[in-house]
Amino acid sequence: MSSAEIPVGLKELLQGYTLEVLRRRPPNLVEFAVQHFTRIQESQRNDQHAKKRTIKSARKGVTFDTNPSKSTKDDEEEEEAIIMFYWVCVAAVCAEAYNPDDDEDDDSEPRVVHPKTDEQRRRLQDACKDILLFKTLDQEQFSEVLDGMFEVLVKPQEHIIDQGDDGDNFYVIERGVYDIVVQKDGVSVCVGQYDNKGSFGELALMYNTPRAATIIATQEGALWGLDRATFHRLIVKNNAKKRRMYEAFIECVPLLKSLELSERMRIVDVLGARVFKAGERILMQGELADCFYIVESGEVKIMIKSKTKAGQQDNTEVEVARCTRGQYFGELALVTNKPRAASVYAVGETKCLVIDIQAFERLLGPCKEIMKRNISQYEDQLVALFGSSVDLKH
Ligand code: CMP
Ligand code: CMP
Repeated sequence: MSSAEIPVGLKELLQGYTLEVLRRRPPNLVEFAVQHFTRIQESQRNDQHAKKRTIKSARKGVTFDTNPSKSTKDDEEEEEAIIMFYWVCVAAVCAEAYNPDDDEDDDSEPRVVHPKTDEQRRRLQDACKDILLFKTLDQEQFSEVLDGMFEVLVKPQEHIIDQGDDGDNFYVIERGVYDIVVQKDGVSVCVGQYDNKGSFGELALMYNTPRAATIIATQEGALWGLDRATFHRLIVKNNAKKRRMYEAFIECVPLLKSLELSERMRIVDVLGARVFKAGERILMQGELADCFYIVESGEVKIMIKSKTKAGQQDNTEVEVARCTRGQYFGELALVTNKPRAASVYAVGETKCLVIDIQAFERLLGPCKEIMKRNISQYEDQLVALFGSSVDLKH
């Protein structure tokens, strides 16, 4: 038996590597292994005194004490906990189970083209220009998406989607107002509304789940649909790339630290990336809000219209703060349901990750307390600048 004995620490090392592979889905396993184990070696060198090794987990704060002097019973319990934890992680990753890279048939499926007049194509392009899910597609993929879309005219009170149904299409709004209704404890609650822009119906197609809400047209409207297979082939496959690109960054955003890995990944799946030129205005004070932003690179400055001694607004803008990589802005109007409290400009070329209001409501609920706490800091900044007290919350 002794010749086949498993060296102390081997299991943890391999489990750690496996978890990282499942989480990051690297294209090259060997190269990723070299990087992964080099990182561990470096951190061991830097931390010779460390007695405990923490398996970095999706659930923050789960620590496995690998001290060999523990009792056998403890060891057994620990081993069970590790195995259990490992399968929970595997299940958490697989629950997102679309495995886009395994989907070999997708590429062999015929490309769907719905012919359109020039005028239809113009309207479609206009409706799609701000759709976040399309923002990380390359030109060719985007044009395939446009080819695959078909026009849907809707009547007042028509149900476009019913909660609990299987997902067929994804929809982009060209015009019309649509209620979002969710059943909570048997009661239908209108949790939000799309007003002449945006998109819906991605969740059931991304995660292979029943429709999570009912979408009802409140007036006549027009939508552009994209069938499930084309959505899968173009958008879901692109999500695997997005996860690889943004996972490490998203994990370092302080605001999102309290979320679980699977929750952070759901944010990555729906976010869009936007690049702003130096000096470009990203948000305008007083506008209605529909998005939330995280700075990925570059810097933004927050400007507020100054006040006269009589407390009236003049049009001169005063800088109140700056945000750099990992910091966020544009949450205040979403949390308080008020217009934008400030204008935001890119300082140099700046890249931001953008999350729409519906995804913000759905996915960032647990972070709202942190955001609310920061509102008092904004109020303090404004008092320091303008002298009089300011209430941004009400
Ligand atoms: P899907 O579940 O495919 O169908 C209903 C859609 O409603 C869902 O995708 C989302 O695009 C959209 N939606 C908007 N807000 C919510 C919400 N709070 N909960 C669930 N779905 C929502
Ligand atoms: P929002 O009001 O949605 O849009 C402007 C954003 O500027 C605001 O959210 C905050 O994220 C950000 N901001 C930073 N500092 C301040 C401040 N002192 N007052 C108001 N907004 C601020």
